Amino acid sequence: MNSRKRVAILISGRGSNMEALIAAAAGDDYPAEIVGVIANTPKARGLESARMRGIPTRMVPQRDYPDRAAHDEAIGAVLEELGAEMVCLAGYMRLLTPAFVERWAGRMINIHPSLLPAFPGLDTHSRALAAGVRVHGATVHFVTEAMDDGPIVAQAAVPVLAGDTADALAARVLKAEHRLYAQALAMVARGEARVEGGRTVFSATSDWGAEDALYSPAPDAPVSLETLDLERLARFTP
Ligand code: GAR
Repeated sequence: MNSRKRVAILISGRGSNMEALIAAAAGDDYPAEIVGVIANTPKARGLESARMRGIPTRMVPQRDYPDRAAHDEAIGAVLEELGAEMVCLAGYMRLLTPAFVERWAGRMINIHPSLLPAFPGLDTHSRALAAGVRVHGATVHFVTEAMDDGPIVAQAAVPVLAGDTADALAARVLKAEHRLYAQALAMVARGEARVEGGRTVFSATSDWGAEDALYSPAPDAPVSLETLDLERLARFTP
């Protein structure tokens, strides 16, 4: 397919969501191709796995730049060089400047491990347990200036089970994240989900349904997306 959207992924860490997007994009009929992965810190070990999969990688360490604006400009230059048409934040743990967000408005999405607007920020799983919620999950949203905020593209819900630890819950959510992000990127890349007036508008052709939002009903329930190599992803699960 030659109309595939050119997507760059920004990471700061493990990169398992990045892996999920790379795996999904390996499918012939997936509407996006991954043209590069950029990391802001040498701690981002996902960069090596992207390199191993033949994806162009770039390290743009934030400590090499005097301020956030200069760092974002450097990232912007790499995105241009890669010919990126869309950006996916996948565990990119740094706030972006308003100028950068504005430049990529409607073309940049993020995944967050909670059912937003609940639990923005860090430690979402232990906070969900402390709050006593019975359902938790993940959200993919268009990026705005506020942290973990912006028009929602898709969400996945998983149950909170008796005796859950934050790690057990995180693993359940992460599994859902991998499938969710691949589906959400496909929707945005196909133009089935787009921002209008600060909200996400979905086209009639979007095949997103309620059954897509509720999965992993049991911890080991199979998650199936034809193009996703779950066995390969499993080793990233904590
Ligand atoms: C994921 O759980 C992602 O949702 C989260 O960081 C993790 C990165 O894991 N992102 C945020 O918390 C953004 N606020 P990964 O590097 O294995 O994809």
